[in-house]
Order: sequence, then C-alpha cells, then structure tokens
Amino acid sequence: MNQDYFAHYLPLIEDEMRRVIGDAPGVYARHYGMLRYHMGWVDAQMQPAVVNGGKRIRPMLCLLACAAVGGAVDDALPAAAAVELLHNFSLIHDDVEDDSPTRRHRPTVWALWGVPQAINAGDAMFTLARLALHGVSAGSATPARALEALAIFDYACLRLTEGQYLDMSFEGRLDVTVDEYLTMIGGKTAALLGASLELGALLGDADQAACGRLAEFGRNLGLAFQMQDDILGIWGDETITGKSAASDILTRKKSLPVVYALANPRVGAELRARYAQPIESEAVPAVLELLAQAGAHEYVSRTAQAAHQAALAALAASGVLVDGNEGGAALLEVAEMLLGRQS
Ligand code: IPE
Ligand code: IPE
Ligand code: MG
Ligand code: MG
Repeated sequence: MNQDYFAHYLPLIEDEMRRVIGDAPGVYARHYGMLRYHMGWVDAQMQPAVVNGGKRIRPMLCLLACAAVGGAVDDALPAAAAVELLHNFSLIHDDVEDDSPTRRHRPTVWALWGVPQAINAGDAMFTLARLALHGVSAGSATPARALEALAIFDYACLRLTEGQYLDMSFEGRLDVTVDEYLTMIGGKTAALLGASLELGALLGDADQAACGRLAEFGRNLGLAFQMQDDILGIWGDETITGKSAASDILTRKKSLPVVYALANPRVGAELRARYAQPIESEAVPAVLELLAQAGAHEYVSRTAQAAHQAALAALAASGVLVDGNEGGAALLEVAEMLLGRQS
C-alpha cells in the first residue's frame, strides 16, 4: 500500500520541484543546470537523464502527514517541494564541507564545477526552497498559517546549520560525548525530518497536539535515520549507498560508532591515538578492527532501534494509527522501511 502512495505522490513532488527550479535557457542555463544535475534530472552535459536523485523521503513524509490528518495533499505540496529542495541545498553544501566527491553514485557538484560554483548553486537551491514554500499562499492556507509554515521551515534550517557547525567542530575533538552527538544530529538531520511532518500536518489542518506529536515522530525518526546513515557511512556497500564508505573515517567524523568506541576502556586509547592525527586510507582497516572490537556496530544498531521505538510511540500518540486511516498506516510502513535501509 505504501508503494501506491509512492507511485501517486512522487510524480506530484517531482513536477512541483521541476516547476520551481525551472529550465532557464541562455546565460543562466549552466547555473540552473547544476541544480537540475544535483536533482538527478540531467547528466553532467546537461542532457536529460534518468538517474537516482535520492529517496525523496522528506516530501513523502510531508504529504503522508497531511493525508493522515485528513487534509488535501495539494495543500501540502508546496511544503513537500520546499523540504526536499532544502535537503538538497544542504547536501550540495555538505559535500563541500565534508570533501565528498561522490553522492548518489555520481560526482558531486563541487567535484564537477568547483567549490565556488557549488556554494552559489547551494545558495540558489536554498532560495528556491523558500520560494517553493511561498506557494502555500496560493492554496487554502490563510496568511497567518502561511507565515507559521515559513517560521517552522526557517527554524528547521537554522537548526540544520547549528548541527552542521557541531558536526564540523567535532572533527578536531576526541572527547565528544553521546549527548553532544545527539544534539548534533538533532540539528543536522532530525530538525528537517520533524519539520517535514509538522508542515504536512499543519497544512492538513491538524490541531496543535497532533502537529506536535507528528513533529516528534519526525525528529525521532530523524535520529534513527542518521544513526543508520552512520552505520552505512562505515559499513555500507558503496555500490548501494552511492557514497564513499571510507570518507567518514578519513575526515575523522565523530559519527556514533566512533564516539562510542573512543570511550571504550579496551580500545579507546589506541583509537584516540589514531584519531589524534590525520588518518590515511592505509589506516582504515585498523580503525575498522578497533570499532569491531568495541562492538560499535551493535551498539549503534541498538541505539537506532530505541530512537525508532520513540518515534513509533509519538506516531501512536498522534492519533493517526486508527483502523481505516491509510495515511497513518503508510507513515508506519515508511518508518519501518527506513530503519532497515541499505542506501
Ligand atoms: C542523506 O539523506 C543525509 C542525511 C541526513 C543522512 P538521505 O539519505 O535522505 O539522502 P537522499 O536524498 O536519499 O540521497
Ligand atoms: C547529513 O550529513 C546532514 C546534512 C546534509 C545536513 P552527513 O554528512 O552525515 O550525510 P552524508 O553521509 O554526507 O549524506
Ligand atoms: Mg556532513
Ligand atoms: Mg556528508
């Protein structure tokens, strides 16, 4: 049934985003072409392509939240496009910040067109995300509700930059705690997932309590999602994730497996010694061995599972998991699917 929702909603989301980004000919063709490339619509020569443009999980959750509270999904479509465009803005900049040459099985924007153009392309994507959200005013949203939606969106974006700030600042530290890590991912990942659900519920005319619960569902789902991303960032199959597997270790990211193992009484000292200096690719197998000895993979799986359970509790409390509410059932299915994802 989940598949039906994907089949029905994905084309709506893609069309809305294509409309917002546009297809400028002339002197700006390459500027917009870089955005279209990142979205997976064209290849590096700017020719139409059908490639993996990402899972589109945030806009799906936004529309499903709207449906689950009994709203008309057209009213949430501008917000769905906005959260996905914002996510893609963050990825264009994140790949610069993380020095990542590969995303979604293709070279990143900066790897093809250089860092200065990637910064500018990201800025354009950010602005288009906000412009997409202005579309709620053309629907049934009152001016007050449209402003409320913009505030939810802008705060999520601010939280995202806070999280990215912490993520980068942790690269140079060896004493990051699990609590600090949770604050970091609460910003860089969970805030936007929370906002995706909250915006869908708000524009579906849900009451404040349901909006709050669905936002909480999204935030906890986001925590579990990032922990799973951390697992994939170390043990994932590059041919499935489309991202380089060693880069989290090479950039000394304090992802949860590493945070956990750095504090381990048996291997922590040796791992700290390695993380105190730049890590070369030849040293990656030794780091993997230390993570294995610490049981880091198992710990992160357990912790992700706990965040997932908290997400499900919030979803249940929102009141959408009742017989006959297909949107609610689909939210549950998407949550289950995300926990076991391999890409
Ligand atoms: C990647 O997000 C960045 C994180 C927040 C973990 P996704 O895994 O949703 O990326 P795409 O859009 O599907 O490529
Ligand atoms: C995810 O960042 C969050 C944002 C992009 C804001 P990561 O750096 O952890 O994600 P990947 O692994 O590059 O997709
Ligand atoms: Mg990053
Ligand atoms: Mg990254």
